[in-house]
Amino acid sequence: MKIVLAGATGFIGRKLIQSLIADEHQVVILTRHPAKAAHTFGPSVQTLQWDARSSGDWFTAVDGADAVINLTGESLAAKRWDETQKQLLLSSRIESTRVIVWAIEKASVRPSVLINASAVGYYGDVPDDTVTENYPASNDFLGILSEQWEDEAYHAVRLGIRVVCLRIGIVLGGGGGALEKMILPFKFFVGGPLGSGKQWFPWIHRDDVIGSIRFVLVNEKITGAVNLTSPNPVTMNDFCKTLGRVMGRPSIMRVPGFVLKLAVGEFAQFLLAGQKAVPDKLLKNKYQFLYSDLEKALRNIRV
Ligand SMILES: NC(=O)c1ccc[n+]([C@@H]2O[C@H](COP(=O)([O-])OP(=O)(O)OC[C@H]3O[C@@H](n4cnc5c(N)ncnc54)[C@H](OP(=O)(O)O)[C@@H]3O)[C@@H](O)[C@H]2O)c1
Repeated sequence: MKIVLAGATGFIGRKLIQSLIADEHQVVILTRHPAKAAHTFGPSVQTLQWDARSSGDWFTAVDGADAVINLTGESLAAKRWDETQKQLLLSSRIESTRVIVWAIEKASVRPSVLINASAVGYYGDVPDDTVTENYPASNDFLGILSEQWEDEAYHAVRLGIRVVCLRIGIVLGGGGGALEKMILPFKFFVGGPLGSGKQWFPWIHRDDVIGSIRFVLVNEKITGAVNLTSPNPVTMNDFCKTLGRVMGRPSIMRVPGFVLKLAVGEFAQFLLAGQKAVPDKLLKNKYQFLYSDLEKALRNIRV
């Protein structure tokens, strides 16, 4: 398949590229830093420049592609969430998705599927319910952002394209992501849960993110929102206990919510919230998870 990937130089995309190349797919990536990406990925990947919001020569790559996968977005943890940063979190997702849909519209031969990132932040803080893809969006910042992000992607439906929005949970993998930040205090024997620890922690191993993206890519029955979370979400308390056990470190230094708010501002709301999100659609379509058990996943990552 010819696959156009945007936002592919990040924590998820880097591994996805490796997996697609290994299976000899033709991969074209859209990036703001093409020279750096070309150096990283080598000649088996075609690298094109875009600014994630405007049309350009890259439109021609979408014409005749089989699929477009968009993982673009300013990292939630990049900076403190002042109004300018919140605007960037929003615009980097909305504008990149909008311009991709525009490129699809302009193509004389359109791809058959658009797979667009979204996040379990769509659901907001859900203390009790089990959250499948039918659960409504929250009206907090990330809920509104995610709903608008998905709405942009769904504009491609009227172009006759299959659209899948990946409501991604907390991705666990080596060399980046949430885990890299979480293991640091554990290394120094000061690890522990954030806030009450009772909030749900909808984790997923990065290999299953890649596996399920590839599953969705070829499974034409799957449309709309798809939760990318493990079948066994745990609470923050249980996550930290398991992480401590795997690392041979205690998990006793709880970080109170008010300290977190002082330290990271509004981003704390995201860290203190959670959802018992389950991958209902993936399971119904018989996706076989590589890692359903948290301890096995963490041992594989060698934290
Ligand atoms: N990792 C997780 O736990 C997780 C959880 C839920 C949802 N997600 C979502 O899944 C997607 C991929 O996640 P990830 O962890 O791989 O992300 P990441 O490592 O932060 O990478 C995202 C990519 O987006 C591009 N990008 C970053 N800031 C941008 C900006 N201001 N404007 C335009 N493009 C920008 C970058 O590509 P270039 O520099 O090449 O242009 C970057 O490589 C993101 O949309 C993220 O919100 C991730």
